Amino acid sequence: MDLTTAVFNDRPDLHEQADEVFSAGWPEFIFHDPVADRHMGRVREWFGELSLLLVDGANRIAAGGWGVPVRWDGTLDDLPAGYDDALVRSVRLHEEAGEANTLVIAAAQVRKDLQGRGLAAEVLRALASAGERAGLAHVIAPVRPASKARYVLTPMAQFMTWQRADGTPFDPWLRTHHRMGARLLCPAERSMVMTGSVAQWEEWAGFELPVSGTYVVPGALVPVHIDRAADRGELVEPNVWVRHR
Ligand SMILES: CC(C)(COP(=O)(O)OP(=O)(O)OC[C@H]1O[C@@H](n2cnc3c(N)ncnc32)[C@H](O)[C@@H]1OP(=O)(O)O)[C@@H](O)C(=O)NCCC(=O)NCCS
Repeated sequence: MDLTTAVFNDRPDLHEQADEVFSAGWPEFIFHDPVADRHMGRVREWFGELSLLLVDGANRIAAGGWGVPVRWDGTLDDLPAGYDDALVRSVRLHEEAGEANTLVIAAAQVRKDLQGRGLAAEVLRALASAGERAGLAHVIAPVRPASKARYVLTPMAQFMTWQRADGTPFDPWLRTHHRMGARLLCPAERSMVMTGSVAQWEEWAGFELPVSGTYVVPGALVPVHIDRAADRGELVEPNVWVRHR
């Protein structure tokens, strides 16, 4: 397939289509991350060159992805806590006029009917090149393993070590990164935090959550904690930090 890479902000004609393509297939709770909500406006405005679309000859979006620039000293200790913290750190660094050296790939998505053809690797490569042009020498990503929601009881530190018989990562999305030469670093235990009222969580789960406690909600990587007295549910999702060459 012949695809061209476009900077998201340069193609307002595709924004409505992008909303459709990139909102498809996600559980509703994923759109309720207050830290991400608070930072997304500035991320879009300031780091637009790091948000890309792969577009076919008929102006149909095939895939896309975006990232943020942070300063990272290359050690595990200095990694952002995860996705949310990467957004916070990128915005703070920009406000302080600090110099970034690392691209954090925050998301990549392939149109549903085009998945499984290696397009994600093209998105990751295009993002890494955009990062390089912006002077970002390192590339890291808090990866949300695509199959983890089936194994909610397994700690991420364990899940990320699962392998297929051929020695490659068990999870397909981790496998894509691995195949590109990326190293799996460590779990990002507090990558995204999604919150809502009990009624909202009941709607997102599709069933009642009658008492305070811990529940398995479809699509969530780990159990959701419900506190009926506080009328609050919280999902603290772990990701896996990977580092690209
Ligand atoms: C995760 C994602 C980006 C991977 O993109 P992709 O272009 O399909 O990736 P690849 O073609 O490299 O496929 C990777 C592996 O996943 C498998 N795969 C991909 N799509 C699949 C699907 N819909 N169902 C089952 N397996 C699938 C492929 O067979 C491949 O396995 P292999 O290593 O055995 O060959 C894409 O599936 C996607 O957009 N998912 C929804 C959004 C998402 O989860 N993004 C990541 C978090 S930001």
